[in-house]
Amino acid sequence: MKIVLVAGARPNFMKIAPILRAIKDYNEKAQNKAGARTLDPILVHTGQHYDYEMSKVFFEDLEMPDPDVYLGIGSGTHAEQTGKAMIEIEKLLIERKPDLVVVVGDVNSTLAGALAAVKLHIPVAHVEAGLRSFDRNMPEEINRLLTDAISDYLFTHSPDADENLKNEGIAEEKIYFVGNVMVDSLLQSVEKARQRNILSRMGLKSGGYGVLTLHRPDNVDEKESLSRITKAVTEVSHKMPIVFPAHPRTQKNLKEFGLLSNHQSPNTNYQLLITNPLGYLDFLQLIMNSKFVLTDSGGIQEETTILNVPCLTLRDSTERPITVSVGTNVLVGNDKKKIVAEACKILDGNGKAGKTPKLWDGKAAERIVDVCVRVKRYTLRYQ
Ligand code: UD1
Repeated sequence: MKIVLVAGARPNFMKIAPILRAIKDYNEKAQNKAGARTLDPILVHTGQHYDYEMSKVFFEDLEMPDPDVYLGIGSGTHAEQTGKAMIEIEKLLIERKPDLVVVVGDVNSTLAGALAAVKLHIPVAHVEAGLRSFDRNMPEEINRLLTDAISDYLFTHSPDADENLKNEGIAEEKIYFVGNVMVDSLLQSVEKARQRNILSRMGLKSGGYGVLTLHRPDNVDEKESLSRITKAVTEVSHKMPIVFPAHPRTQKNLKEFGLLSNHQSPNTNYQLLITNPLGYLDFLQLIMNSKFVLTDSGGIQEETTILNVPCLTLRDSTERPITVSVGTNVLVGNDKKKIVAEACKILDGNGKAGKTPKLWDGKAAERIVDVCVRVKRYTLRYQ
């Protein structure tokens, strides 16, 4: 059974890695079982992210095999990126004729993979289905809605995601609550992350610093909102140092808007340390040992919940409400007062403690593969 797995951007890699590992484990067992199907994974990297720090380092850190196919679509507008990826993925699907296409998350490559497959009548599995921020200004929300609407297997990580799908009229038999694949990667990597030396390299002490990540267009593309956040963060950084591995888009905009320029110098007295994006294991070590995390990322809201590190999310909504209701997450938007007040609460020892959501146990990918092996052969339409 041939399975095409589509990955394109940084947050996809930690979701695909455990699925590839689970496929390998399944195949090893299937070889000893008479009549059992084996799975032939084909890893496709669209090239939506292409810098070493945004892509290759994740393959190394997560011990992933090199992609079988690299499409090299690169940056562009949403339509350019999605369109180019669709064109290239369609060619590949026609050539390879897979039985199933697996897409993960909510980036442009996710939607492109799902659309190209469904029009060729190839069944689509969406991992991390059903997440909704209910904010259609976010490109990811559009990608989530559309991908879910055309998927045949919807793998969810929380009961709220199941509810969202049912409310949109998606048949219950397509929905599988399997847990969180990001957590599979995290639990698999915690020990390796402990052995990194990024803390000593940066002169940081465990529990003695905060971490900031920022890349959402809403926060970084307009000078006004980016400046509101940088002012708040600068104020917090006078109380405790903050490490800021900055996404390429954010670095570009900080420079263009003339923000935080004092902080780029190594001789600065400010306690805000801006670095290039970090690899998976270095970043994991950084957040594991941090006092708090400020972020507008989706995945980091989940990782901090698992690591029991207080997280202040620089957004007004989240598609991951379970990290607020069960985990360590608090939504602070980009309101300076609120950001500083919530950070002070944490520094005073009153940060939010959380619990582990159900099925965030490191076995989600295994459950996904159990379902995938049951996919029937469809009549495919290749043209
Ligand atoms: C994409 C995803 C977002 C995800 C984020 C993680 C969509 C709609 N957005 O947003 O959901 O949270 O990835 O990072 O798919 N760039 C580089 N090197 C790279 C990649 C990008 O320099 O390897 C620069 C380019 O100038 C590019 C900009 O960053 O224009 C933004 O990249 P893009 O892929 O358009 O979106 P992200 O903001 O990364």
